[in-house]
Amino acid sequence: MPQPLLVRDDDPDFAGEFAAAVLAGLSQPQKVIPARFFYDRIGSELFEAITGLPEYYPTRTEIGILTQNAAAIAASIGPGRAVIEFGSGSSAKTPLLLRATAPAAYVPVDISAEFLQQSAGALAADFPGLPVLPVAADFTAPFRLPASITALPKLGFFPGSTLGNLAPDAAIDLLRGFAATLGEGSWLLIGLDNAPGEGKSQGSLEAAYDDAQGVTAAFNLNLLHRMNRELGGTINTADFAHRAVWNADLGRIEMHLVARRDTGFTVAGQPFSLTAGAYIHTENSHKWTLIEQRLMARASGWTPHSCWMDPAGLFAVHLWRRPVPAMAP
Ligand code: AVJ
Repeated sequence: MPQPLLVRDDDPDFAGEFAAAVLAGLSQPQKVIPARFFYDRIGSELFEAITGLPEYYPTRTEIGILTQNAAAIAASIGPGRAVIEFGSGSSAKTPLLLRATAPAAYVPVDISAEFLQQSAGALAADFPGLPVLPVAADFTAPFRLPASITALPKLGFFPGSTLGNLAPDAAIDLLRGFAATLGEGSWLLIGLDNAPGEGKSQGSLEAAYDDAQGVTAAFNLNLLHRMNRELGGTINTADFAHRAVWNADLGRIEMHLVARRDTGFTVAGQPFSLTAGAYIHTENSHKWTLIEQRLMARASGWTPHSCWMDPAGLFAVHLWRRPVPAMAP
C-alpha cells in the first residue's frame, strides 16, 4: 500500500514537548499532565478500545447521529471541500463523513505521527482518488495546512467531544484558531457531549470513565508507563490508582492518578514525590449544555447553523459556519 506523505510541522520543540510538559506539570502544587499526551501509539490503541466499551456512550451515540443525518449534513455543506479533521480520524466516523460529502481532499491533523501514518494509509486505500494529506502537528498551537489545498473551500471536522478536554476559555481560543486556519466561508462539524440531565446521571457519566473491564484505568496509567519508557522514569506504576470523578462546580469529569501510598520517583533525572492520597490530574472532560455550546461558537467567530442529537439527548453534533463578512455601510 503506498503510504501518503506525512507532513510534519517542523516545530523544533515538538519532540521535547512531552518532557517539558511533564517536568513543568509535576512541579505544580497540584500535579498535572496535559491530556493530549495520552495518545502515544499504545494510548491511541487503548482509546480505540474505550470507544467500544458498553459504558462509553459518546462514540456510538455520535456515530448514530452522523449516520442518521449524513444526507442533511452533505446538503448543507455541498461537495468539493477539503475536509480537515482535528485528531487522527476514527475508523468509523471519518469514512461516514467522506462518503456522504464527496470532498476534494482529506487532511487529518494529529499529534501522534505514528498512529496518523497508519490511519491515513488505511483511509487512502479505502478512498482511491481522494488526496489524503496527513499533517503531524499539535493542533492546539498554530500550524500550516498543506499548500495544495489553499484554494479549496474548507470543512473542519472535530468529532468525539475532544473540545471538552479544554476549559471554556481555552476551548474558545482553540475554536477561534480553527476559524483562522479554515478561513472565511468555512464550515465546522463538531461533536460535543451534553451536560447531565434527564436520562444522563452523574453515575452513568462516572461509569463511562471508569469501566468494569479497566480499559480506562489502563489508558490513564499508560501515561506513567510512557514517562518510564520515553523519559527514563522510575515510577512504580503499582503505587497509583485510576480515579474518575464528576466535578459538579466546573461541569466536568476529572481523571486522576492517585498515590495508593507515599511514593517517589525520578523523571528525566528530576526527583518527585507524592504522599498517599495525593494525585496527578490527567484529564478534564467538560460536559456543556446546548446553550453553552452555542455561546462558545458565537464567542469564537462561528455562527450556529444546525444541531442534531440522539433521541435521549446524550450528545450533540453541530454544524457551524464562519461567515464571509458582508460589506459594511
Ligand atoms: C477523546 C477527550 C473526548 O473525554 O471522553 C475517554 C477521552 N478519556 N475516556 C473523553 C477519554 C477517558 C475522551 N475525549
